[in-house]
Amino acid sequence: MTFLKVENLKVYYPVRGGFFRRVIDHVKAVDDITFELKEGETYGLVGESGCGKTTTGRTIIGLNRPIAGKIFFNDIELTKLKRRDFYQYRKDIQMIFQDPYSSLNPRKRVLDIIAEPIRNFEKLSPNEEKTKVMDVLEKVGLSPESIYKYPHEFSGGQRQRIGIARALTLNPKLIIADEPVSALDVSVQAQVLNFMKDIQKEFNLTYLFISHDLGIIRHMCDRIGIMYRGRLVEEGTKDEIFEYPQHIYTKRLLSSIPQMNPEERIQHMAFRRKVNEEFKNNYDKYFDAEGKIFDLKPISETHSVALP
Ligand SMILES: Nc1ncnc2c1ncn2[C@@H]1O[C@H](COP(=O)(O)OP(=O)(O)OP(=O)(O)O)[C@@H](O)[C@H]1O
Ligand SMILES: [Mg+2]
Repeated sequence: MTFLKVENLKVYYPVRGGFFRRVIDHVKAVDDITFELKEGETYGLVGESGCGKTTTGRTIIGLNRPIAGKIFFNDIELTKLKRRDFYQYRKDIQMIFQDPYSSLNPRKRVLDIIAEPIRNFEKLSPNEEKTKVMDVLEKVGLSPESIYKYPHEFSGGQRQRIGIARALTLNPKLIIADEPVSALDVSVQAQVLNFMKDIQKEFNLTYLFISHDLGIIRHMCDRIGIMYRGRLVEEGTKDEIFEYPQHIYTKRLLSSIPQMNPEERIQHMAFRRKVNEEFKNNYDKYFDAEGKIFDLKPISETHSVALP
């Protein structure tokens, strides 16, 4: 049984123009990607801004409709289900949104924010509901009195914890974490990330972890998919991606990580020069005549690269 399978997924956004706001073109935000998640693992989706990471996540939880492709969750094809039936699976898949400042309704108290998913799926008495909310708040390390506060009364890190608590209330199996810490101070980032690792073990969660930060991806993920312009250019285990990157885009991403250690810095600068050189001279090798990215091809059991 596959836990989550995304098959040949395509998501396009219409571009409108002219007096009648007719559709004149499409943004190919996600353009034919295929990948799988095993239960209990953390799969990282990484790539530069605008490459389609958020769109992929939103499509899996049903906030965007694909124009082609299939999504399977525990062997059930979500993309085939009617809205009403899909709803049942939405309970098992939750998302932590990119921006803790705008993803929480500023006019609602924490109680209502966290209880919202419960209200959609379960009928609880006000007291039962309150107990349940206080319970998850405790799990994310916030005090029970927080339920009467509003989002602006919290720090960024605390707010992200509220987002995590909200995602946890229904005991989901899969959490799509979209840049869960990128809006936070570096000092708070580690705290939230380690917390996410702890609850992963406790609740047997599977993460689809979206980030553009390779340092964080390395810290969190078992397997990694590198996205570029709506496509996957490489996929492999953490070691394969970091130790044996094959696609020029992966190498470019890796070469752009700043090096703190002065001794390694010189070596790293040489690596960056080599990668840039290779990018200039061998560009054609990695893209077809129209500049399109090739399909992924396996080079080992776990490692695939988009090469001709
Ligand atoms: N609602 C929308 N309407 C039209 N185009 C959109 C919409 N949302 C996203 N796009 C476009 O789709 C592409 C992919 O966007 P997406 O938000 O998935 O990227 P991302 O990888 O999450 O980027 P970031 O790292 O900046 O969050 C971008 O080119 C973006 O401009
Ligand atoms: Mg995004």
